[in-house]
Amino acid sequence: MSGQPQPPVDQLAAATLSDAVPKHEFSDRVPIRSILARPDGGSGLAGQRARIGGWVKTGRKQGSGSFAFLEVNDGSCPMNLQVIVDAAVADLGVLVPTGTCVGLEGVLKVPPEGTKQRIELRVEEVVHVGPVDPAKYPIPKTKLTLEFLRDVVHLRPKTNTISAVARIRNALAYATHTFFQEHGFLYIHTPIITTSDCEGAGEMFQVTTLISDAEKVEKELIKNPPPSEADIEAAKLLVKEKGEVVAQLKSAKASKADITESVAELTKAKENLSKLEERFKLKPGIPQKDGKLDYGQDFFTRQAFLTVSGQLQVETYACAVSSVYTFGPTFRAEHSHTSRHLAEFWMVEPEIAFADLKDDMNCAEAYVKFLCKWLLDHCLDDMDFMAKNFDKTCIDRLRMVASTPFERISYTEAVELLVEAVKGGKQFESKVEWGVDLASEHERYLTEVKFQKPVIVYNYPKGIKAFYMRVNDDSKTVAAMDVLVPKVGELIGGSQREERFEVIRDRILEMGLPLDPYEWYLDLRRYGTVKHCGFGLGFERMLLFATGIDNIRDVIPFPRYPGRADL
Ligand code: 4AD
Ligand code: MG
Repeated sequence: MSGQPQPPVDQLAAATLSDAVPKHEFSDRVPIRSILARPDGGSGLAGQRARIGGWVKTGRKQGSGSFAFLEVNDGSCPMNLQVIVDAAVADLGVLVPTGTCVGLEGVLKVPPEGTKQRIELRVEEVVHVGPVDPAKYPIPKTKLTLEFLRDVVHLRPKTNTISAVARIRNALAYATHTFFQEHGFLYIHTPIITTSDCEGAGEMFQVTTLISDAEKVEKELIKNPPPSEADIEAAKLLVKEKGEVVAQLKSAKASKADITESVAELTKAKENLSKLEERFKLKPGIPQKDGKLDYGQDFFTRQAFLTVSGQLQVETYACAVSSVYTFGPTFRAEHSHTSRHLAEFWMVEPEIAFADLKDDMNCAEAYVKFLCKWLLDHCLDDMDFMAKNFDKTCIDRLRMVASTPFERISYTEAVELLVEAVKGGKQFESKVEWGVDLASEHERYLTEVKFQKPVIVYNYPKGIKAFYMRVNDDSKTVAAMDVLVPKVGELIGGSQREERFEVIRDRILEMGLPLDPYEWYLDLRRYGTVKHCGFGLGFERMLLFATGIDNIRDVIPFPRYPGRADL
């Protein structure tokens, strides 16, 4: 990520063209990609020995069972390597079921004319078999819907689609770090657990041990009933008695040994009493104080949540070291069941000091273009798979976005265009008028129908935006911007931040938020304030846009949404 830039993945194959089969550095087999992703399709490696490992996609016995063809995939690329195994080498029946794991060694050969493969492996030794019972295997060769695959989230990476998505996702993450590193941004790890609500939208998951602690206490009290008041009284009496014994022995000038022994007994009685008193206090249920939950007894001695955005925290670094970004998981307890919302999603959030809304838009546009170009340069094989199977237009869309300047219109202009569209007969489910938040249908109309390219809408009414956005001179709008793209709608949300102390303090109050939790945030304006801006790109939205897949639940390895959090 830093230092020497790594060669793009595709160069792996090109650089070694005509050399021996490259070995995987940390495993005893050759990645199939290093054979098949070469410009010659692997034919230049004919005659060489190779050991591969992977999972059988399809297998069939041929020549009355004298040999078998296997299509093997190891996840390094979408292509399968064709291998041929003779019945003399292995029990073919065990090798052919879809899903079988195989480690195979043999010689690479150019197949006979007329076949689509340019290289195949003639197996001489089977070094590993992880068998599969085809009668029980949950993901057979037949085409399975993405919806079905969500029920076998632990096995779905074995499918062509989910593994292609994983490679595209990986490429986008790598591209993200490359883009920001190349532009001098520092990668900052912002906290997952937070005590601030960034968006002020009240959609946070709470982090608490109060409930599990209460359950522990309840269980413990059942196993080990608490002492009664009589038990406490008896223990108190014992302490009193033991105390009296100590006093008597002392006044009678008894031997040192006797006094020490009686003091030890007194100490034991006191310890027993305090243990009983401690247990007597144990009450089932969550601790309360003044009729409210007592967060003073919670793990962090205050209410804590999973973050909805790393923005506020990353601003602390932007206001000290200028250009920064954070890229991590974010969490929203929204009960939306849409194909564009997750309860856990990843966000890329740059934050730039000495920069305004225009710089913000320029950065967002350059970053999105960079991502598109990266996929065209590094992931074309997986993109071809997506184009064939999900969205014919996905590659053209990447090309268009990589090369077309984004349209930039103000919110006011956007509303005018939408109102015009309605006059012209376009029907929307929700009403458009100045002051309302744009719905997904409006955003998609602008980017897909009206402009047919990415659109940046800026200067939104302040009433619908977060407290931290900079108030414009008109006092009605804030310096916010959303990047809208075809297929997805809102991909990015960002803004110039309010850097004026009095203005942001008044905004917090005006929005009915308490000042106290934001004092640290106000300090950034009290001490060395600076004009700054930033944005958040929804990483899974970018994947939807790139792959053409319809549902956001299929572009994150482990989707979390209302009612679902498998594994
Ligand atoms: O527009 P949002 O809410 O902006 C922020 O959180 C800012 N604090 C970001 C910043 O300025 N640093 O979210 C940013 C993006 C959205 O544009 C959308 O792409 C994505 O995050 N997003 C979601 N993606 C999946 N599931 C959800 N529930 C999402 N909510 C927002
Ligand atoms: Mg937004």
